[in-house]
Amino acid sequence: MDTTIDWGNLPFGYLPTDYNVRCEFHNGQWGPIEVSQSDKIDIHIAATTLHYGQEIFEGLKAFRGVDGKVRIFRLEENAKRLQESAKGLLMAPVPTELFREMCLQAVKLNERFIPPYGSGASLYIRPLEIGLTPRIGVKEAEDYLFIIMVTPVGPYFKGGFKNTNICIMREYDRVAPQGTGRWKVGGNYAASLGASHRAHEMGYSAVLFLDPKEKKYLDECGPANFYAIKDGKYITPKSDSILPSITNMSLMELAREMGMEVEQRHITVDELADVSEAAACGTAAVCSPIGEIDDIDTGKKYVISKDGKPGPVTTEFVRRLDAIRHGEEPDTHGWNTIVM
Ligand code: PLP
Ligand code: COI
Repeated sequence: MDTTIDWGNLPFGYLPTDYNVRCEFHNGQWGPIEVSQSDKIDIHIAATTLHYGQEIFEGLKAFRGVDGKVRIFRLEENAKRLQESAKGLLMAPVPTELFREMCLQAVKLNERFIPPYGSGASLYIRPLEIGLTPRIGVKEAEDYLFIIMVTPVGPYFKGGFKNTNICIMREYDRVAPQGTGRWKVGGNYAASLGASHRAHEMGYSAVLFLDPKEKKYLDECGPANFYAIKDGKYITPKSDSILPSITNMSLMELAREMGMEVEQRHITVDELADVSEAAACGTAAVCSPIGEIDDIDTGKKYVISKDGKPGPVTTEFVRRLDAIRHGEEPDTHGWNTIVM
């Protein structure tokens, strides 16, 4: 383990690690896995990724458990989602077995960067795929590069597990109604930068985007899905323009096990007046509790948390997720892949 790292105070940022793993796709097939010590790539200046945004990625985490073992959370679901993103952008899909093997290698090779049990940090795994073929006409590539890099991270929102305030703005859309929002495409994040920057300037940690067609329903919360607790039910948006979050999918299962009803449906902005908890959920965000949601256009302020503290359901979600991922509770759903 790297003894120079302050594990308990890691930001959600890039810290160089020892190795990354790569695989190239040419002539219709994936080649051998290559291990690299360089954090640079050498690609053609006309590669489709640079000009036409053929780039997709994933985000998952590895955790050091109470028993010393290292577990990756829901690896197969991330592999599946990357395949869906590839389909969306006409890219070569990465087979699940290749995805798994490369994740395991990337984690094992960088073992000294896996945060210790109890630090609250984890090893973030970032797979990405780019189109390599030089093109000036707008057309998909024939050649691809798939890379997995890892870096140790702390909490996504500053301050860790405490309430954060977010805002609604109708001036910006992140994606189109039947566009790329359902895939994890780099361009979606580029398109969200202006809105996020504006929100940060106003003191909010994220934007709660509305559906881009009617601007009537809640969509998602920056780089995370959104859920709320209303009349004891778990409610979360149903939308074609949001990323199907694997964390959200897991929370829906946990909510049912906790005896809650789960509703995946359109949620109007007005409904925020009647929710007892709300949170942003995702791999990076985990479950980040929301204190207040301000509608910038109407001036309406939805105070979700009356006492300034994370609500009981979100607190329990985080406890259970943590316990499963760190081997403190049995993994009854088969969510973990044990690396070593
Ligand atoms: N929505 C967006 C736009 C995201 O970037 C992410 C992060 O991956 C999520 C939702 C949450 O997805 P997951 O829980 O699979 O990390
Ligand atoms: C993740 O939660 O893994 C994400 O990809 C969000 C990220 C864009 C910070």
